[in-house]
Amino acid sequence: MSMDDHSLTVLTTDRLRLRLHTPGDAGALLRIYSQKDVARYLLDDPWTEEDAARHVADRCVKTGMDGDSGALAVVIERDGQAVGDVLLWWTDREHRVAEIGWVLDPAYGGRGLAREAVSAVLDLAFRRHQMHRVAAQMDARNYSSAKLAAAIGMTREAHLRQDWWNKEEWTDTVIYGILAEDRVHRH
Ligand SMILES: CC(C)(COP(=O)(O)OP(=O)(O)OC[C@H]1O[C@@H](n2cnc3c(N)ncnc32)[C@H](O)[C@@H]1OP(=O)(O)O)[C@@H](O)C(=O)NCCC(=O)NCCS
Repeated sequence: MSMDDHSLTVLTTDRLRLRLHTPGDAGALLRIYSQKDVARYLLDDPWTEEDAARHVADRCVKTGMDGDSGALAVVIERDGQAVGDVLLWWTDREHRVAEIGWVLDPAYGGRGLAREAVSAVLDLAFRRHQMHRVAAQMDARNYSSAKLAAAIGMTREAHLRQDWWNKEEWTDTVIYGILAEDRVHRH
């Protein structure tokens, strides 16, 4: 991974470019998040055009962990096309604990692109922001998301039974976590 000098807002990996959101991303992200399969295990319903405009506007201000928003929302770009996003936000800024979330267009799935994007953001979390811990939460049925979390070195730490009422049913949540010290042991 390398980082462009101008303000940490662009990360590049072998195959991807991760950059901040702009209002112009609403169309591409709508095409991803309006898919039923994408929204299935998210707390969101499939996005409408209004949802897309609102969510993208929210994300446009999530420009970095050090800023007022205390969050970084990046679009995953493959060959100039927005194919997903990664969001990182403080849950305890004072003690450097954060949470991460991800979405990839299924048309680009199964190629390790989500892994590549999320690993780059985790690198930023630990190297640049000296985070102590980063967690990821997902619907317990979201097997591909759990697989991704494990693949990037996160530990499955908890299974919460029926803690969310979502889409007309009780859902279980699994929590993955990674500590700064886990990464030291990995490298
Ligand atoms: C969760 C999600 C991002 C996973 O996407 P993905 O493409 O499966 O994730 P990865 O980048 O880890 O790709 C892994 C797959 O690519 C394959 N792969 C192919 N080339 C690869 C490469 N060069 N490097 C690594 N893996 C590669 C892996 O073998 C694996 O395949 P498998 O699933 O058949 O075992 C995606 O399913 C998604 O966006 N879902 C909807 C939204 C959602 O639920 N988000 C999470 C909310 S908690």
